[in-house]
Amino acid sequence: MELQGKKILLGVTGGVAAYKAAELTRQLIKQGAQVYVAMTEAATHFVGPVTFQALTGHNVYCKQWEHDVSNGMAHIDLTRMVDCILIAPATANCIAKLANGIADDLLSSLVLARDCPLLVAPAMNKQMWQAAPTQRNVAQLRADGVTILGPGVGEQACGEIGAGRMLEPAEILEGVLSFFTPKLLAGKRVLMTAGPTFESIDAVRGITNLSSGRMGYALALAAARAGASVTLVSGPVSLPTPAGVERIDVKSASDMHAAVMARATDANIFIGVAAVADYRVAEMAEHKLKKDEGGPPAIQLIENPDILAEVAALPKPPFCVGFAAESRNLEEYAQKKRLKKKIPLIVGNLIQEGFGGEDNRVVLFDDHGVHPLAPASKSALARQLIEHIARSC
Ligand code: PMT
Repeated sequence: MELQGKKILLGVTGGVAAYKAAELTRQLIKQGAQVYVAMTEAATHFVGPVTFQALTGHNVYCKQWEHDVSNGMAHIDLTRMVDCILIAPATANCIAKLANGIADDLLSSLVLARDCPLLVAPAMNKQMWQAAPTQRNVAQLRADGVTILGPGVGEQACGEIGAGRMLEPAEILEGVLSFFTPKLLAGKRVLMTAGPTFESIDAVRGITNLSSGRMGYALALAAARAGASVTLVSGPVSLPTPAGVERIDVKSASDMHAAVMARATDANIFIGVAAVADYRVAEMAEHKLKKDEGGPPAIQLIENPDILAEVAALPKPPFCVGFAAESRNLEEYAQKKRLKKKIPLIVGNLIQEGFGGEDNRVVLFDDHGVHPLAPASKSALARQLIEHIARSC
């Protein structure tokens, strides 16, 4: 419920993507937002106002003069009560009107009369998007402080392929969430690790662990929303790349070590969330080990480099944050790790609570003491952790 308490005026204009605005409405409401919808006349040919009325529980605004507003100022009243106006889809015609201050219907009047931020998700044919007037208009909107979400690239309703299609509802929602997130890490470069590592024994087998990557991926997304440029070095997981994050896939601890050390000197903040294998197999068998060749194989292990400790020991280290997953004695073991690795902040969690699932319970240990956070989803904890890191570094 990251949009709890927010009121959003969704403007829908006349493009094929108008049908996706219904799903967008649903997703905004699911995040706790109150959504009000204003449609252009053209939009009503693609999707009926009743759909939005049913989804939002509010009247849908279509015409400038038809509303039962005592002072006849629907366009002013509406914009005063919302936190932002979001137009999705925004046609080339709509964008041209907004860029030039034309107010010839309810939606364009609302935009001109607003005193709240405006977000626009363009949707049009690729030639219309590339056309010089559209590009001029979009540049003008950006210069006016409007946030442009997309457009996406791919197959279009007309069958052509290129830039111009509206972003998917989930991507627009992400843009809205990011818009409302305070930019606590603006200008910072965050380097992170997440997920498990996989240490090969032979061509098919290996040593790994049950880290799903969820905690690290949630932190990467929260850092990106907070305005950081984020590079996520990820062990093998089956999660989508968080929006706005550069992802580097690695397999073993040695790969992770190389990928991190190549970037660590450029980072302002390093967060080690990965459950890195402490040991790897001294000599990986080239082929699959066979059961009938001399009984159980003796596997010799050698120690992996400690990535976090090495980053923290750099001459000019980034602000280093470690994680500690323990099955008992959380405070004692986490503090020991923090001191041994010489890092300012470590996040402790219990293995039975942290590994795998959607939720977690964490305790932060730093020079100022012990800070337990209430159990919550990994996304909610990630936001709190980013706030703590932003205050500390
Ligand atoms: O991925 P999820 O399913 O969401 O689970 C999240 C998590 C439980 C894996 C995560 O919250 C967590 O606790 N990660 C750290 C796991 C751990 O206990 O690591 P460790 O004690 O082996 O290492 C301590 C710190 O040193 C960690 O920051 C680790 O990334 C780092 N380390 C460890 C070994 C090594 N060779 N290099 C390292 O950088």
